[in-house]
Amino acid sequence: MTKSVSNLAAVLPSPGSALDIQERKIPSPGPGEILIRNRALAINPMDWKRQLYGFAVSSYPAVLGTDLAGVVDQVGPGVTLFQPGDRVLASAAGFLTGNSDQGAFQTYTTVMDALATKVLDKITFSEAATLPAAVSTATIALFDVLGLPISDLENTATSTNPTKTGILVWGGASSTGSAVVQFARLAGLVVFATASPQHHDRVRALGATAVVDYRSPTVVEDLLAAAREAGTPITLALDAISTEETLPLVARVLAESEDGPGSDRKKILATLLPWPDTVARPESVQVLWVAGQRIWKERIDLGRLVFNKLLGKWLETGEVVPAKVQVVDGGLSSLQAGMDEVRKGVSGVKVVVELDE
Ligand SMILES: NC(=O)c1ccc[n+]([C@@H]2O[C@H](COP(=O)([O-])OP(=O)(O)OC[C@H]3O[C@@H](n4cnc5c(N)ncnc54)[C@H](OP(=O)(O)O)[C@@H]3O)[C@@H](O)[C@H]2O)c1
Repeated sequence: MTKSVSNLAAVLPSPGSALDIQERKIPSPGPGEILIRNRALAINPMDWKRQLYGFAVSSYPAVLGTDLAGVVDQVGPGVTLFQPGDRVLASAAGFLTGNSDQGAFQTYTTVMDALATKVLDKITFSEAATLPAAVSTATIALFDVLGLPISDLENTATSTNPTKTGILVWGGASSTGSAVVQFARLAGLVVFATASPQHHDRVRALGATAVVDYRSPTVVEDLLAAAREAGTPITLALDAISTEETLPLVARVLAESEDGPGSDRKKILATLLPWPDTVARPESVQVLWVAGQRIWKERIDLGRLVFNKLLGKWLETGEVVPAKVQVVDGGLSSLQAGMDEVRKGVSGVKVVVELDE
């Protein structure tokens, strides 16, 4: 089934250098792996951080990238869920394994079948590529770090979350925040979010009960008022931005949201970046860091459930929608321009590079 074409790759030759287009051998899928001919690659902040700081790069030359969508070219031993020709999205594990065959930024990538999802024609490859890292991180944040029962996600039709837990998603328009809003809504939580005003309608459509402008000088009071109006205290939070500016505000919302007399529910703040040394830790709030890479190893069970069983169904019904796509033209050689774009900062979009068939 493998086409007689080469595997062009955007290779990082050495720490901090620019990406260089080189030919690599087409990888062979091992047990439990599938080989994908990539059609769209999405860029995450972690990609430029790895390029610049050598973060999660064990050796050079390296192939970066985790988010891809394309067509299954070959399946490895033991794979039963996929076959050549399937349109899929997948999370490439090279970030964890250091294996360049498992980096997304090339024509052919091997991925674990546990972290791939079949996608219907109505979702474009570019849209599909926006999902893997956001979905993985949302899954780990909610069902590993914050400890929500995964059964709430499996039984969304009947999930009622009788405790009426409120969650704050700070940065609801970000790629990760948008996925957390959707997954939290599916798990039955009442979602409060922050975003720039131009994204309020979209974040509400994703499932937030109330969305507040994070630049408002009264943002904490506005969120507390929204929680009171909804009759749902905010006891959980995910800060998708996790800076010196945002973390104290999120901690204040948790500390000041009233959980009813006598309640002993823990207030938990999940951060996407480590808590900065320069900021005092809140006393009444537990702070936990989200390590999204747990999806590839320790919590592969959650990965398999979400990617193999739930996500495809939700995309079909529209219960989960991809991010808005911003395509950078030029294929693999435009990945560097795309990474520079993401580093400058994006608003409500995922930067994607498309590859020819
Ligand atoms: N720990 C992990 O496993 C993990 C996993 C994934 C990502 N991350 C990290 O998480 C961060 C977010 O990644 P991402 O890909 O989700 O980001 P992204 O989509 O690139 O974030 C862009 C969004 O951030 C929002 N934003 C910027 N400053 C904000 C603020 N002060 N308050 C609220 N929203 C703000 C903007 O919202 P508006 O457009 O509304 O202004 C914009 O839409 C990055 O630092 C990334 O490295 C960590």
